[in-house]
Amino acid sequence: MGRGDWEWYRSFETSKPFPNTLFSPSQQTIPFFTSIPNGFYPSKSINISGVVLPDAKRFHINLRCGGDIAFHLNPRFNEKVVVRNTQINNSWGPEERSLPGRMPFNRGQSFSVWILCEGHCFKVAVDGQHICEYYHRLKNLPDINTLEVAGDIQLTHVQT
Ligand code: GAL
Repeated sequence: MGRGDWEWYRSFETSKPFPNTLFSPSQQTIPFFTSIPNGFYPSKSINISGVVLPDAKRFHINLRCGGDIAFHLNPRFNEKVVVRNTQINNSWGPEERSLPGRMPFNRGQSFSVWILCEGHCFKVAVDGQHICEYYHRLKNLPDINTLEVAGDIQLTHVQT
């Protein structure tokens, strides 16, 4: 895999493709919910920026599909892991936990998460570094139309 393959997130910074930008002068309320009109499709991306609380245990970014969670991205500070999973009919599937590098989120520090939808997976970058791909388990991408962010962070910026 060439280096360029892992630099997909850079196009976000230069092309500014986000139709909905939600800025807050201070903080967004947590838990935070917003709808994503028309849901996901290949090339659709979102960006979530915030600050991890100093004593954080965990937070999560959920991409919801009705009552199900198509993509749960869950940094856990006690375990120093980023858990990824899907919940269907209130049941969690197998967790994905491996990462190529070290834990990309830190207590007390700001972060920026980009999630890019492709045909077969979501690609995730944190602070400009690709961290993982998550192969779609719920494949009806247009129905994945709600973003939820909750847990031990302050939100500073959300673009959908
Ligand atoms: C559970 C946890 C859920 C969710 C899930 C992911 O143990 O209670 O909040 O993170 O793991 O697999």
